[in-house]
Amino acid sequence: MMVLNENQSLKSYNTFGIDVSARWLARFASADELGEVVDWAGNRRLLVLGGGSNVLFTGDVDGVVLLNEVKGIQLLNEDEDYVYVRAGAGENWNGLVQYCIGRDWAGLENLSLIPGNVGAAPMQNIGAYGVEIRDVFWELEAWSLEERRVKTFTSSDCEFGYRESVFKRRMKGQFVILSVVLRLRKEPIFHTSYGALREELAGRELSIRAISEAVIRIRRSKLPDPAEIGNAGSFFKNPTVPVAVHEELKGKYPGIVAYPTEGGGVKLAAGWLIEQCGWKGFRRGDAGVHARQALVLVNYGGASGGELFALSEEILQSVRLKFGVELEREVNIL
Ligand code: FAD
Ligand code: EPU
Repeated sequence: MMVLNENQSLKSYNTFGIDVSARWLARFASADELGEVVDWAGNRRLLVLGGGSNVLFTGDVDGVVLLNEVKGIQLLNEDEDYVYVRAGAGENWNGLVQYCIGRDWAGLENLSLIPGNVGAAPMQNIGAYGVEIRDVFWELEAWSLEERRVKTFTSSDCEFGYRESVFKRRMKGQFVILSVVLRLRKEPIFHTSYGALREELAGRELSIRAISEAVIRIRRSKLPDPAEIGNAGSFFKNPTVPVAVHEELKGKYPGIVAYPTEGGGVKLAAGWLIEQCGWKGFRRGDAGVHARQALVLVNYGGASGGELFALSEEILQSVRLKFGVELEREVNIL
């Protein structure tokens, strides 16, 4: 049976630690329970939440926050090269990663320690250290709020892009992801081309465990732990600019950090751009820019979503003014 709370603080349900409240908070652990909640909700606004690690609340939610608690990890199928693993959307992402590494199923090791739940992972097309979930994604099941039934999405249906999917764009707010199937390798292919990862692994024997441990060490050294200081990871995306724009910027700023992309443009390190504008370590009240990673905005305790949003706006403007580059927020503003 569904559980419903009224006027519930969301402070412990978002990693920024923003103290807003939800008019109602409901939990569901299956498609049937979700159906019940949706029936109850009628025309009220619905908002699905996983681990709350990629959202910035700018005000109270006058509607129903749905906490996805669909659990379970199952080996569905296997062939000579692959295993097909299904995980409930409410499973912790890193829990799934470690479960698979423990069984020698390869493909998730570079994505170790990313906060949040399985359900949001394809929605965001999470990525780190040269791998994105789309590289191992097989299919997912999602509940259509409009048609009130479960639908299956293949990889191409999901329209994955850099931190993008159909669920963030064309079909925003229309589906609740219930479970995800990943296709993992029995024989690993190691992805170690990301600079920081290659350095961390130097002189060690390669294995999916070694990669996972190296990724975890790098992440712990750079990224603030939300249990200690509120944040939602990278606040902005790394922007892509045409080659000519990069050339021009490079002429003016020889230290600019950039990577070629498959699409032909050049991806700029937003953290570098923000640092050059003098924001790294900045603090006003309890809103700030992390001292070791300028791409991460932080809440030292009592910042409001509005204060953090205003800070992000100032950062956007200063990067636009200095470099003529437009940053885009990665975090979902609610
Ligand atoms: P939430 O924040 O709860 O939700 C995110 C969005 O998805 C919301 O719009 C929500 O409505 C929607 N949503 C959630 N669940 C569902 C569902 N079941 N069905 C439909 N919609 C849903 N991300 C990376 O890609 N790479 C990183 O390296 C990375 N590092 C991070 C480091 C830190 C310290 C932090 C705090 C965050 C980091 N992130 C990173 C961002 C975050 O971990 C991911 O975006 C993650 O997938 C969010 O999962 P969540 O369950 O917390 O989603
Ligand atoms: N840099 C700076 N100053 C900074 C931060 C970064 O100069 O303050 C430069 C450095 O040269 C560094 C480069 O930027 O080498 C890249 O930095 P880093 O390796 O930390 O990665 P990122 O581009 O800042 C991206 C993702 C992260 C992901 C890492 C590792 C985005 C928006 N962010 O960060 O994802 O973990 O790469 O792959 O693509 C997230 O999405 O929330 C997230 C944390």
